[in-house]
Amino acid sequence: MKTVTVLVGSERKGSINLALARAIEKLAAGRMKFKFIPLGDLPMYNDDLWATPPASVVAFKEVIAQSEAILFVTPEYNRTIPPLLANAISWASKPYGKNVWVGKPVAITGTTPGALGTAVAQSHLRYVATVLDMIVLGQPEVYFQMKPGLIDENADVTDETTKAFLQAFVDKFDAFLDRVALPVAETA
Ligand SMILES: Cc1cc2nc3c(=O)[nH]c(=O)nc-3n(C[C@H](O)[C@H](O)[C@H](O)COP(=O)(O)O)c2cc1C
Repeated sequence: MKTVTVLVGSERKGSINLALARAIEKLAAGRMKFKFIPLGDLPMYNDDLWATPPASVVAFKEVIAQSEAILFVTPEYNRTIPPLLANAISWASKPYGKNVWVGKPVAITGTTPGALGTAVAQSHLRYVATVLDMIVLGQPEVYFQMKPGLIDENADVTDETTKAFLQAFVDKFDAFLDRVALPVAETA
């Protein structure tokens, strides 16, 4: 069983990105165990805080360092990565020389009610992930337009074509982790 750290770029109770992440979790059941890590406890990034690192930052960095794999499920804000997620990424990338994203296998997806389905935010996130030396799943790209009822309250995908599309994403992520995931001690 693979363990996947899930970072959702929204804290909203009714988040459609959380709903998508839960649906993916269900499709991955039996193969991957998802651990959802909230990002809202992290302070806004400030270099000065490293003098006495906040407990939330230390804990978050440790979670990332110990992660076997990471799944980003992100909204798009103003055609880019939302600040909640950008902030978390910055914390785990610093201080200089202590970037814990290095070598982490990651998959990226996200959803919006609009037709572009977070394509631009995901593209920006891929770029940032590469700069930080993560190993990014290239295909399939999942730009997901959320529609009412498409994912129900039990985290089931109600449309068979969409379900198969997401299942293919899970299968590719699983196979990708078989190829690239390293023992955690080598990446921390
Ligand atoms: C500040 C802000 C900027 C947004 N910018 C975009 C955008 O660039 N593209 C887009 O498709 N939706 C945009 N939206 C709409 C979000 O896709 C929508 O609010 C979505 O439900 C957010 O995800 P969540 O439900 O997981 O919180 C924006 C929303 C906010 C609050």
